[in-house]
Amino acid sequence: PGSREEDESSKGLRIYDPAFQNTAVAQSKITYINGDTGVLRYRGYPIEQLAEKSTYLEVAYLLIYGELPSKDQFMNFSHEVMHHTFVHFNVTQLMRNFNYDAHPMGLFISGIAAMSTFHPDANPALAGSDLFIRDDKVRNKQIFRLLGKTPTLAAMAYRHQNFLYMLDRLSEENYKPNPKLSKALDVLFILHADHELNCSTAAMRHIGSSLVDPYSAISGASAALYGPLHGGANEAVLRMLEEIGSADKVPGFLEEVKQRRRKLFGFGHRVYKNYDPRAKIIRNIAYEVFDVCGRESLIDVAVELEKAALEDEYFVKRKLYPNVDFYSGLIYKAMGFPTDMFPVLFAHWKESLEDKESKIWRPRQVYVGESVRSYIPLEHRE
Ligand code: ACO
Repeated sequence: PGSREEDESSKGLRIYDPAFQNTAVAQSKITYINGDTGVLRYRGYPIEQLAEKSTYLEVAYLLIYGELPSKDQFMNFSHEVMHHTFVHFNVTQLMRNFNYDAHPMGLFISGIAAMSTFHPDANPALAGSDLFIRDDKVRNKQIFRLLGKTPTLAAMAYRHQNFLYMLDRLSEENYKPNPKLSKALDVLFILHADHELNCSTAAMRHIGSSLVDPYSAISGASAALYGPLHGGANEAVLRMLEEIGSADKVPGFLEEVKQRRRKLFGFGHRVYKNYDPRAKIIRNIAYEVFDVCGRESLIDVAVELEKAALEDEYFVKRKLYPNVDFYSGLIYKAMGFPTDMFPVLFAHWKESLEDKESKIWRPRQVYVGESVRSYIPLEHRE
């Protein structure tokens, strides 16, 4: 545009890369994704092996510290996390004060943000030194607190004191959760535990690069996750499936998507141009959960949508496949959750603090607005 203002202060080369599509802003040893072939590995371990053999807490250890724990390390880690599950009474009070119909993610984001005010030891500004937060002991303390307290906060947000123990219709006996359902949830947590620099993790690293405390950073990252193009997609998928209602309505809905009047939630990914490996695992879990909780009839609509889209040139040409959110909402629905998920972001927080070259994140923009002009007082404007 003719009115483009030249930025005299710019030095060197500035690349315009909308939405960071081709920009790497960090080096990482945590997660490997090959979007063309549909491969996902945490610290080198294939996601399929971890989902089958590991547990969420062990995967969290692996992501954060780089190696699978020994028995002693795992016992100590689990003990520390379980030791930090209580949240401050005032946070509980805060959570009680929201409207009865408040969205659980809004409650969760606010609860996590509030936690920053209860743990000033994690705030370098209050401690007077940024070295403080780089101290292993202080950092580990925040990791234990966050891993321990976030499930409590999430459970509060859903008006449950404990995800599965409270859902007695899902319990086998004595309020013990059904082992198949706890395994299913554990696998879902593993599959969501990391996905390199997705929108929320990038937000975590971006906010964390200012050296703010991790509770404030996670609150911002959770807000990024809440959006329907990201973690909020599983909720959007459910609403979409409910609206479509039955398999015979699928062709009409896909026509609307092709005419760009609708979006096919749960499809497409910035990195995967192939089937998302997590979606494959989640599709199988859905049937295992239905065995326990009863078949969720919307699965027929989902299966028909997937089949029709994968045979349709519009979606094939754009390499649009089901993503992690396509089937997960159905599982939560079958289990009785009005739910959403949140990934573990601390591995990235720790890695970025340990990176000697890390700086505050501050992308530049390409200015395309007006050139300099003079202010016109209100009475002289047309
Ligand atoms: N439905 C219909 N068309 C789509 C979809 C979709 N879900 N996703 C992409 N497309 C089309 C776009 O319109 C575009 O077509 P065009 O080239 O003719 O204009 C083409 O496919 C490329 O899509 P982009 O929007 O450029 O892809 P981008 O990488 O920016 O977006 C995203 C990725 C946000 C995930 C997108 O695919 C989307 O909106 N999906 C639905 C929301 C969703 O399921 N999000 C969850 C992702 S997984 C996660 O975050 C946990």
